[in-house]
Amino acid sequence: MKLIRVGICGLGTVGGGTFNILKRNYNEIFRRIGRPLIIEQIGTRSDNSMCDLTGIKVTKNIFEVVRNPKIDVIVELIGGCNVAKKLVLEAIKNNKHVVTANKAMIALHGQEIFYAAEKRGIMVAFEAAVAGGIPIIKSLREGLGANRIKSIIGIINGTVNYILTNMKKGKSYEEILNKAKLLGYAEEDPTLDVEGFDAAHKLTILASLAYGVNLQFEKIYIEGIKSLTIEDVKQAEKLGYKIKHLGISKRTKKGIELRVHPAMVPKKRLIANVNGVKNAIEINGDAVGPTLYYGRGAGSEPTASAIVADLLDVYRDIFTKHNYRTPYLAFSDIEKLPILPIDQIITEYYLRFLLISLKMIAKVAKIFYKQGIRIKQLIQKKTGKSIVIIILTYSTKESNIDLVIGKIKSTHKILGPITRIRVENF
Ligand code: HSE
Repeated sequence: MKLIRVGICGLGTVGGGTFNILKRNYNEIFRRIGRPLIIEQIGTRSDNSMCDLTGIKVTKNIFEVVRNPKIDVIVELIGGCNVAKKLVLEAIKNNKHVVTANKAMIALHGQEIFYAAEKRGIMVAFEAAVAGGIPIIKSLREGLGANRIKSIIGIINGTVNYILTNMKKGKSYEEILNKAKLLGYAEEDPTLDVEGFDAAHKLTILASLAYGVNLQFEKIYIEGIKSLTIEDVKQAEKLGYKIKHLGISKRTKKGIELRVHPAMVPKKRLIANVNGVKNAIEINGDAVGPTLYYGRGAGSEPTASAIVADLLDVYRDIFTKHNYRTPYLAFSDIEKLPILPIDQIITEYYLRFLLISLKMIAKVAKIFYKQGIRIKQLIQKKTGKSIVIIILTYSTKESNIDLVIGKIKSTHKILGPITRIRVENF
C-alpha cells in the first residue's frame, strides 16, 4: 500500500492543531482514505508545548523539509509572505503538493503560485486560508459550482468579531485583544486583524473564486475598527442595528464592489447575531439564492480541521487522478469585470457629528436635499453646549455622501470628526 508522507512547516497555533488532529484522529482518517497518513518531518524553530513530538523527525530548517525526497505533501504554516512564497515555490519545483492556511500569500502572490503549480500538475489547496474551519472554499468551488454568484457578505475575521462582541461588556480594547491573542485567534501582528487587512486578504480570495476575476488585493477598500466608539455601538443598537465588521463583495452591472469595513446590520438578520470568534458568510447565487455558512473562523483546531480536510483532498487527487489540482484562479478574469472604487458603491449611511448650534440643522438637511439624498431618520441630542446629530439615509452613492460630508465640514459649525458607518440592509 502506497503511503503518502506529509511534511509540516511551522508548528505554531495551526501547525500544532494539525499535528494533534492527525495523531488523535489517525484511525478516522485511515477509514476515510483507506491508507495511513504519515508525518515524515516537521520544520520548526521552536517546540509547541501542546504537541508530543516523540519519534518525529524535526528540523529547524524548513527548506530541508521541502527538499526531503520522501515527502509528497507540504503543509505550509509559517505565515508571512516572502519566505512562505519562496518555500511554496520551492515545494512545487520539487513536485510536492501544497496545503496552506496563508491568506496573505494567496491574496498577494496566488496568481504566480497557481501558474507554477499548474505547469507541474501540482495541487495547491488553501481551504484554511478563509474563515477557519468553515468549508467555504469547497462550497464556492464545488457545491455552488452551477451558480453565477451575485454577492458575498460576511464576518471573516474572528478576532475583530470577538473584540466587537466583547466591547459592549465594558472591557478595555487592550484587554480583549490580549485575550484573543492568548486564545490563538489573532495574527502574529494583530494590526492585520484590527485594521482590516486580514479580512481583505480573505475577501480577495473569495471574490476571485466567485466571479472569476484575478486576485486584486491592491484594489480592495479597507477600513478597520479602530475609529469605532462604544457610543456608536450603543446608538446603532437603539436604532435596531448591530455593528459588524464585514467583507462585502457584490456583482453589479458596472463592476465588482470589493470592500471591508464596519457596517450596521439590522438586528433581526442572522449575521447580526454571529458573536465571538464565529464567522458567517452569506453567498447569494442566481440558482440557489442566499446560502449561509457559519462556524469558528479562527483558532488552532478549527483552522487545522480545514488543513486536514485539504490533506484528504490531496490523497483523493493523487489516487483517483481526477483533474482539479489548482483552482481555476489560474485561468480567471474571463469577463474582465473591473473592481469598483469605493466612491461608486451604493448603500445606506449612518452619520454622526456634533453641531454647535441647533439653528444649523435646517441648513444641514438642505445639504442632503441638494445632493439628492433622502434622510430616513434624524436624531438630535443635546450634550453640554453642543448637539449630537445622527442621520440615517436611504441608499445613495458613496461619492454623494463624500460631497455632503465635505460641505457640512466647510460650514465650520461642527465640532470634531464626522463618523460614517455604512448600513447594510441586504
Ligand atoms: N486572525 C485571523 C482571524 C485568524 O482572527 O480571523 C484566522 O484566519
